[in-house]
Amino acid sequence: MKITLLHLALAILSTLPSAFCLNSCPQCGNLSVPYPLSTNPNCGNPNYQLYCNNGALEFKSVGGIYYKVLSINRTSNRIVISPPPVDPGSCLSSDLMEGGLQIDQTSPFNISNRNTVLLFNCSKTLLLSPLNCSSNSVCRKFEAIDGGIKCRNKRCCSFLKDSPSNSRRIRVRVGACTAYTSVVDINETEDPSSWTFGIELQWMTPA
Ligand SMILES: *[C@@H]1O[C@H](CO)[C@@H](O)[C@H](O)[C@H]1NC(C)=O
Ligand SMILES: *[C@@H]1O[C@H](CO)[C@@H](O)[C@H](O)[C@H]1NC(C)=O
Ligand SMILES: *[C@@H]1O[C@H](CO)[C@@H](O)[C@H](O)[C@H]1NC(C)=O
Ligand SMILES: *[C@@H]1O[C@H](CO)[C@@H](O)[C@H](O)[C@H]1NC(C)=O
Ligand SMILES: *[C@@H]1O[C@H](CO)[C@@H](O)[C@H](O)[C@H]1NC(C)=O
Ligand SMILES: *[C@@H]1O[C@H](CO)[C@@H](O)[C@H](O)[C@H]1NC(C)=O
Repeated sequence: MKITLLHLALAILSTLPSAFCLNSCPQCGNLSVPYPLSTNPNCGNPNYQLYCNNGALEFKSVGGIYYKVLSINRTSNRIVISPPPVDPGSCLSSDLMEGGLQIDQTSPFNISNRNTVLLFNCSKTLLLSPLNCSSNSVCRKFEAIDGGIKCRNKRCCSFLKDSPSNSRRIRVRVGACTAYTSVVDINETEDPSSWTFGIELQWMTPA
């Protein structure tokens, strides 16, 4: 009897870690990929699809644009993706033609409310919106650093991404604003060089 119970206990204990390992995907580059995130059909949950391309973990938008995953927090169910590069010779985000970042409405990922979005080269009509386009908007601080060189001295605006109605989209377009970046959990009084540039997404726990 004792032996049977012991064997049972050992059997249960030994299956737990292996079942867990089967479900989570292999590391991609230097990032581990916790469940439910999935980089191939044999691991993770297919609804949480990411891509491991040449050792770089990437998130794909509805528009088919890949954004590099910079970090993953498995405790808070969050990933931070890289804002799209701004063409060095202009003030145009590389995803401008797709209208910016757009996440499928049925995706378990949405844009968290810890992002402050900075918009550049905005048209005059944007001043009427609830965005902060004033001369002391935090977007002016970004202009001072290298990344914004071609966006300098154009109208820029900022806003905290906390509207539930639009949590799957950061919009740019010709005639409105043509470039953007995002800062996670911004501290406006700190120097921009210490900001975390990225777009934080959070995922819903699988049912
Ligand atoms: C992971 O690798 C990238 C370059 O491939 C590097 O920029 C980054 O600092 C590395 N992160 C860690 C936590 O080692
Ligand atoms: C991950 O998220 C948890 C919960 O919000 C937080 O306590 C922790 O500091 C985060 N880890 C990192 C590395 O940011
Ligand atoms: C600013 O936006 C306009 C269209 O809204 C575009 O024609 C122009 O090229 C942009 N400026 C830069 C420097 O990219
Ligand atoms: C814009 O942001 C700056 C810096 O945070 C703040 O001082 C100012 O009051 C804001 N203006 C508006 C109109 O929200
Ligand atoms: C923002 O940064 C300043 C200067 O480093 C610091 O004194 C302050 O506590 C920070 N604020 C928050 C909310 O972390
Ligand atoms: C975004 O996703 C998180 C996690 O699933 C959820 O708690 C939050 O309500 C969602 N936000 C919106 C605006 O739908």
